[in-house]
Amino acid sequence: MYTITLLPGDGIGPEVIAGAVHVLQAVQEQHTGVRFVLREAPFGGSACDQTGTPLPEETLQLCLSGDAVLLGAVGGPKWDSLPVHLRPEVGALLPLRKHLEVFANLRPSVIFPALADASTLKREVVEGLDVMVVRELTGGIYFGTKHRETLPDGGVKVVETLEYTTAEIVRVARVAFDLARQRRGKLTSVDKANVLESSRLWREVVSEMAGEYPDVELNHMLVDNCAMQLVRYPKQFDVLLTENMFGDILSDQASQLTGSIGMLPSASLGGKVGLYEPIHGSAPDIAGQDVANPIATILSVAMMLRFSFNLPEAANSVERAVSRVLEEGYRTADIMQPGMRQVGTKEMAELIGVRLKVC
Ligand code: NAD
Ligand code: IPM
Ligand code: MN
Repeated sequence: MYTITLLPGDGIGPEVIAGAVHVLQAVQEQHTGVRFVLREAPFGGSACDQTGTPLPEETLQLCLSGDAVLLGAVGGPKWDSLPVHLRPEVGALLPLRKHLEVFANLRPSVIFPALADASTLKREVVEGLDVMVVRELTGGIYFGTKHRETLPDGGVKVVETLEYTTAEIVRVARVAFDLARQRRGKLTSVDKANVLESSRLWREVVSEMAGEYPDVELNHMLVDNCAMQLVRYPKQFDVLLTENMFGDILSDQASQLTGSIGMLPSASLGGKVGLYEPIHGSAPDIAGQDVANPIATILSVAMMLRFSFNLPEAANSVERAVSRVLEEGYRTADIMQPGMRQVGTKEMAELIGVRLKVC
């Protein structure tokens, strides 16, 4: 029995989580002996509306006491002008990641064969792509001090700090080295060592660890070059390791190589309870219309089955079911192509649930 805390959140969050729940139920029907206990909790802007805080204490306790957390997305224009501690991103998402101590965020950019022509990049650039971004998730500028003051001239000065310690770099780099070892043996560490002291430490620490991994080929790349290389020749990469903010930006960019940000799942690991979420946000522009792509969240369920529950067969069957539905020509609007059949969020999840029975 596995207890999953569901945090639908805001915008398209509840729609994509409903799709993922549908698939979890189908997994349960397929695998005798596998039982999921699902409990839902308020989180983000909607929680702030209901309870006055974006991360209610009961929600946090529920997350900490379950086996895994599945999160939709938070945020939206409605909450953008709240004081910073009440904003869903800073007041709920970042503290949740910190409390769960999930310092390693895995964001796999894998293109399904059926979508090789759905990307805005040419087929030959993206076909066969399989890049794993390992993003440090609980440190860096996201968690530095913030300060704002009004200057005598009436202007405003802000200060925010960026800290990393050796220990924080070592633990996330180890995750990336270990993954590279199980994959194609290539690790690219991305930094801005030509400017930032934190990046110079990052590079020193990662270089030193390479001695423990003679079977992994390590190279370092500056983040601006990496952004360019990701669209020039993304297949040069196997595992990309980087700090929090660079990883945020590069993973959105990498997602588009697969056809849409609506395709990219994530697993945040390192603590006792894993956190699983699509990499996209609450997409206020399409919320409530049954058009969002639920696949990123469904693939996050597959990552949960693999990493938190050690059910690799079930994880593979979810991924195969997604692949099958795409091969049959079903598409949500974001990956729609001529001659394909457009479906909504709900129908896409239902189709994946049905195909699971034969995958
Ligand atoms: P976004 O990822 O929400 O949307 C960017 C674009 O991608 C939009 O055009 C959107 O319609 C599209 N898109 C996103 N997910 C999609 C899906 N599943 N299917 C189809 N199209 C999809 O980013 P944004 O617009 O910059 O941010 C909106 C809000 O979400 C902000 O408040 C932001 O802070 C928040 N956000 C939250 C998370 C999270 O909760 N993990 C992540 C990113 C952004
Ligand atoms: C993500 C999001 C978050 C981040 C925001 C909403 C705080 O963009 O999960 O990628 O930057 O980590
Ligand atoms: Mn992001």
